[in-house]
Amino acid sequence: MNILLTGGTGYIGSHTAIELTNAGHHVLLFDNLSNSAEKVVERLSQIAGKNLTFVYGDVREAEKIRKILQQYQIDAVIHFAGLKAVADSVKAPVEYYANNVQGTINLLEAMQLADIKTLVFSSSATVYGEPDYLPIDESHPTSAVNPYGRSKLHIEEMLKDVASSDSEWRIACLRYFNPVGAHQSGLIGESPNDTPNNLMPFLARVATGAYPELKVFGNDYPTSDGTGVRDYIHVMDLAEGHVAALEYLKEHRGWHAINLGTGRGYSVLELVHAFEAASGQNIPVKFISRRQGDVAICYADSSKAAAELNWRARRDLADMCMSAWLFQKKTDSES
Ligand code: NAD
Ligand code: UFG
Repeated sequence: MNILLTGGTGYIGSHTAIELTNAGHHVLLFDNLSNSAEKVVERLSQIAGKNLTFVYGDVREAEKIRKILQQYQIDAVIHFAGLKAVADSVKAPVEYYANNVQGTINLLEAMQLADIKTLVFSSSATVYGEPDYLPIDESHPTSAVNPYGRSKLHIEEMLKDVASSDSEWRIACLRYFNPVGAHQSGLIGESPNDTPNNLMPFLARVATGAYPELKVFGNDYPTSDGTGVRDYIHVMDLAEGHVAALEYLKEHRGWHAINLGTGRGYSVLELVHAFEAASGQNIPVKFISRRQGDVAICYADSSKAAAELNWRARRDLADMCMSAWLFQKKTDSES
């Protein structure tokens, strides 16, 4: 299939591009480079052993998207493009809704015009809000506690309406838990343009000495060591989940929400210790107060993905840390 990846040079998009190429698909990377760099395209071509096509642009440019869908005879779209920093979304909600929600509306209009009706959307475990029970399955009630989360929920609901309006649509909302790690080559990984908000990329920079310590947001949660628990999933497992979702959509019409997680949670301190073991570096930590909006524990019931997509996460925490460390070291040695 010819697959358009919006946000294709970003963290998850770039790793998925490799897995799709390995599975025999042709990918077109589309990105405005607001949180990624064009050099990713070279790296991807190096890993894939062939040139991947990149088009610079913004999903809010409806006409451009429409032209691309036709020009490249796109069969399906994976929609990664979006802004994802929770704190920024609180400060700049209009920017978040314009990028995430308006961007998706433009994409849907262009897809309708081009008669392309297969879409995989990057959703998030954030749509579950504060968990009522654990592990979180797809029937768990949804709610949002910040504009970022609300933008994901609005989009999911919009997509549900689109699928109900026309039975030709095939839509998968993949609810990612906490993607971490990097491709085994160390050539691509999580490389935000600004200071990292997420734990793993920050941790990796503490290990290199770029930051003096990791600030742990709260050690008074009702968890084994008091720090927050999350379902960390290797980005290559996540990438494989997208390939499986496209296969699933070949046989299934309608709207589907599917968790992509491992089903197991680790605390912040467990991740810190695993990273120390993988990197051989000492990670100084400082406990500070809880970060507003954080939940204590979040992990997936991943049985639907196993049953429907025939997909399971295979890589362990050590692999997540080793690959993230390899990528960080390579990145630092080049700068
Ligand atoms: P990322 O920032 O690395 O990738 C997103 C890419 O989209 C970037 O390359 C950015 O330049 C691009 N982009 C942003 N707005 C755009 C626009 N208007 N037009 C074109 N390109 C645009 O983030 P990621 O971690 O790869 O996340 C991909 C998707 O997965 C996002 O939608 C995010 O909300 C979602 N998600 C991420 C996580 C996570 O922890 N990484 C968890 C759950 C969901
Ligand atoms: N944490 C720290 N210090 C840091 C960064 C994070 O202690 O510097 C802690 C957090 O408090 C939390 C855990 O590490 O307990 C993980 O935090 P992240 O910021 O890495 O991830 P979140 O679970 O907060 O959120 C991520 C994505 C969201 C997505 C969510 C659900 O950022 O976009 O996972 O999958 F919605």
